[in-house]
Amino acid sequence: MIMLVLGIETSCDETAAAVVRDDRVILAERVLSQIDEHRPFGGVVPEVAARAHLLHLDRLVGEAMAESQVAFAELDGIAATAGPGLIGGVIVGVTLAKALALVAGKPFLAVNHLEGHALSARLTDGIDFPYLLLLVSGGHCQLLAVEGVGRHVRLGATIDDAAGEAFDKIAKLLDLGYPGGPAIERGAAAGDPARFALPRPMKGRPGCDFSFSGLKNAVRLQAAALGELADQDRADLAASFQEAVAQSIGDRVLHGIGAFKRAHPAATHLVASGGVAANRRLRQELGRCAAETGMSLVVPPPALCTDNGAMIAWAGIERLRLGLTDGLDFAPRPRWPLDPLAKPLRGAGVKA
Ligand code: KG4
Ligand code: ZN
Repeated sequence: MIMLVLGIETSCDETAAAVVRDDRVILAERVLSQIDEHRPFGGVVPEVAARAHLLHLDRLVGEAMAESQVAFAELDGIAATAGPGLIGGVIVGVTLAKALALVAGKPFLAVNHLEGHALSARLTDGIDFPYLLLLVSGGHCQLLAVEGVGRHVRLGATIDDAAGEAFDKIAKLLDLGYPGGPAIERGAAAGDPARFALPRPMKGRPGCDFSFSGLKNAVRLQAAALGELADQDRADLAASFQEAVAQSIGDRVLHGIGAFKRAHPAATHLVASGGVAANRRLRQELGRCAAETGMSLVVPPPALCTDNGAMIAWAGIERLRLGLTDGLDFAPRPRWPLDPLAKPLRGAGVKA
């Protein structure tokens, strides 16, 4: 029997809705980025984000439904990100999803945003469990063994900033623009990655946790030592920073692959997701790590790596297949770790 699910995503600064079919077909999707609203502040402002979701979500859901040519009565479930994330936005999405579920008499599916990212490679590439996931975005930086729906083991995570957050802060420091990741990547193209000796945080340490605050500080000190920055200085700093991030993450991923393979010797997939996975230097490094260890690298296309409604609809489908629906009393969760056994995370970038 064919299954159709509407997915709603409002946990950060993208308002998104999509209708997905269980044979891995995205019938329609809408993603509205709030980048322009947040640019003057150099980062996502939670109250501004919540208001923007409220303003646009109904229309985007209506457009996605119309384009999919699926009636509400034909849906098998309505999924929304119910956490972790900026709680004002999460409440907006969950409330609409519950109202639609109630009116249409359909199951409501409370999706963990991280599980949305974690399962998206099964939507795009149809890969089997288990696989190793590197999730690197503005809010998250973790390595997870994805063993099944609702079955995730966190192998490592950032002990301070998320990777994307570090890109955004360094771009701000260097006056390169917002959002920082693409700005740094553009700047780095004309830069010398070897000009500045920057640390490779955590490199060689046991385990696979990440850290970016020391690296960020080292860039700040190098910039301060130069005083007035010329364009070439900015490009060289951006390139040196990007190189340090790529090598640091590469080292952590190699450790993660080791731990993952000990538990799952026959598994072969390394998946990278989240906005930072769009970075070409990082992809190259991940490709090298995969090749060295006999793994194959899977990176969903950028539109499905960054926040989107299709991954939430897909996670809803996976849960629905297992009968994992939720009551309308489900309370949105600002924090919601995927692995309840992992030790609690700390740090500015930590939202899980
Ligand atoms: O997944 P995403 O769209 O949103 C969440 O944080 O959930 O990720 C956004 C983050 C931002 O910090 C942005 O600067 C970073 O991903 N990013 C990049 C690149 N494109 C986006 N970082 C490095 N290189 C890129 N090309
Ligand atoms: Zn995300």
